[in-house]
Amino acid sequence: MKPGASAARMRELERQIEAHNRAYYLEAHPTVSDREFDRLLEELLGLETKHPDLASPNSPTRRVGGAPLSGFRPVAHRVPMMSLNNTYSLGELRKFVRRAEGLLPGEPITWILEPKFDGIAVALRYENGALALGATRGDGRTGDEITANLRTIRSLPLTLRKKEGVSAAQGELFAAGAVETEKPSALSWIEVRGEVYMHRADFEAYNREREKAGEPAFVNPRNAAAGALKLLDSKEVARRPLRAVFYAIAEARGVALARQSEALALLASLGFSTPPKTWRCRTLEEIEQAIGELDTIRRTFPYETDGGVLKADLLSQQRALGATSKAPRWAIAYKFEAEKAETLLRAITVQVGRTGALTPVAELAPVFVSGSTVTRATLHNESEIARKDLRVGDTVVIEKAGEVIPAVLRFVPEKRLKGARPFKMPTRCPACGGGITRDLVGDEAGTLLRCENLSCPAQIRRRIQHFASRGAMDIEGLGEALVEQLVASGLVADIANLYALPRARLLGLERMAEKSADNLLAAIAASKERGLERLLFGLGIRHVGAASARALAARFRSLDALRTATEDQLLEVPDVGATVARSLRTFFERKDNLRSLERLRAEGLAFEATESGSPADAALVGKGFVLTGTLPHLEREEAAGMIRDAGGVVRSSVSKKTDYLVVGADPGSKLDEFRRLGLPTERILDEPAFLRLLGRKT
Ligand code: IVH
Repeated sequence: MKPGASAARMRELERQIEAHNRAYYLEAHPTVSDREFDRLLEELLGLETKHPDLASPNSPTRRVGGAPLSGFRPVAHRVPMMSLNNTYSLGELRKFVRRAEGLLPGEPITWILEPKFDGIAVALRYENGALALGATRGDGRTGDEITANLRTIRSLPLTLRKKEGVSAAQGELFAAGAVETEKPSALSWIEVRGEVYMHRADFEAYNREREKAGEPAFVNPRNAAAGALKLLDSKEVARRPLRAVFYAIAEARGVALARQSEALALLASLGFSTPPKTWRCRTLEEIEQAIGELDTIRRTFPYETDGGVLKADLLSQQRALGATSKAPRWAIAYKFEAEKAETLLRAITVQVGRTGALTPVAELAPVFVSGSTVTRATLHNESEIARKDLRVGDTVVIEKAGEVIPAVLRFVPEKRLKGARPFKMPTRCPACGGGITRDLVGDEAGTLLRCENLSCPAQIRRRIQHFASRGAMDIEGLGEALVEQLVASGLVADIANLYALPRARLLGLERMAEKSADNLLAAIAASKERGLERLLFGLGIRHVGAASARALAARFRSLDALRTATEDQLLEVPDVGATVARSLRTFFERKDNLRSLERLRAEGLAFEATESGSPADAALVGKGFVLTGTLPHLEREEAAGMIRDAGGVVRSSVSKKTDYLVVGADPGSKLDEFRRLGLPTERILDEPAFLRLLGRKT
């Protein structure tokens, strides 16, 4: 192709890919198959490799992340990013509204109530319709430049959708920022403000994957989003399920706006995701009613909202009301209280994870909160406990973060018993009595304690459990209790031991009949053929989750090719960032790991990738699945893996193209949506029906 033709093709591909991205992420209505989408992306990547000079800085290929940064460049905000005054009380909200009305006598104020998104504030600048700069809030005056990280967020437009007739009327422009009222002909320059956040379900799946990869879980979606945006490696950011929603235009040239509601409409028409619902209110009664409605419907949102933001709609009024040094006088945040409960902190136990990470856990007297009984809550790490000064025997206040994950907020000082002692992490591993080290690098530097003894029985148990789990080698019948027995009896200290279990010794275990021993041996033998992707995931290499294992298997096709790959070759793989690459190199450098792999090879395990990962089921190829709620036995990632193995496609939201909805306990709005669309109810599957469809045993 001539360069001219290539450039034209590249622009066309960019346009098509972004249109598909929009359809998928914004409209929840996929317009092409994943395969076709990947084909377009690959074609574009190919052309960009051939003609790097023709590659556009906002190419959708950049969404997978670029070269790591060595630090963030400071960005001065032309319009400061102010915070909002907060209140939990309707009385204070009324006072705020009356004060504003008092400041504008004779001028009725129309208010807009928007949901308050619980994420991380960002500012994005577009020049001539293309994303040019993205920054965090920082201290409100200066933030960090995080354009590369923001580019990876697929629900955020890299180029603005063309908007007909954006030139609008002359006059007011924007309260918060500089007013540019030159005769506008097109939207040449715009800075928008919004929030980066995570869907609850994506967060949970992501946390489960982290735990499986031996990394500490995040406390809530907000922390996970904040952590992701601060990463220097945008490839790593691309792996995190971030989204973005926009609620303000800070400055714009080439457009005149008179109202906040117009700003929201313009944002939506430019291709931004905007608040799903807003309320226009004229009186205090209307405001209170709107807040009540918001409190009801926010529970059906797939993400967390911690309140509402009430804003004067007219920008002229916003300007007239002005701001204090910290916050505007034309807006306030009304926050909803999370449901809380008091209970007794009976004990703090310390769990040893698969990679030796020690996690303190609160053992609580059972208490009912936000719809279920809570008996345990992670305390994350030593410094969290110290910061909250939690002591065994305390009465503590707990809540469910986002109505899902129980968290210990604080102790109740009046109820503290005399003689309660500060908690100390053990100085030796509670499972093996071995030494403990402190992680000095990574997300949790300094706070994460680790048992370094690879033969620690707790670690062995967890490694074997992970290896045998459905998303990994799927060894039927090898559950937690049996793993415990095998490790305690000394029969298994390494995954390789599983493949050389003497039948006679198995029969010596308690409650092990001939039939169950034979079934177990058959299931273990059957797992030899799972292939590279499952094996790689099952090995439990730190930071290597299901998605990286899939990408690595697809690229290298055999364990030997992967073992000898250089760090640079590893970094070329989508879904593999510097952390994963380094972790793989470290894993393959260890003699004990290599020995264990050689034993697996000798036992006849398949070290090669199977065709297309795993055998697909012709009837399910290309079928769209959506998962909602908690399944009784399968974790979400496992179920998703099984669907992909069968050739199906897992999507995050329901649309007319959804073929099956897999439903667990506490399903979210997806079930309502499925019904609303009038899709056939026999396509709603519970776990047994799902397993039957996939031809698996229930
Ligand atoms: S407007 C000057 N609208 O809440 C006011 N903020 O607590 C600019 N937030 O810094 C903010 N949802 O990060 C606005 N619908 C919404 C919001 C929202 C969430 C965040 C934003 C802000 C913080 C203040």
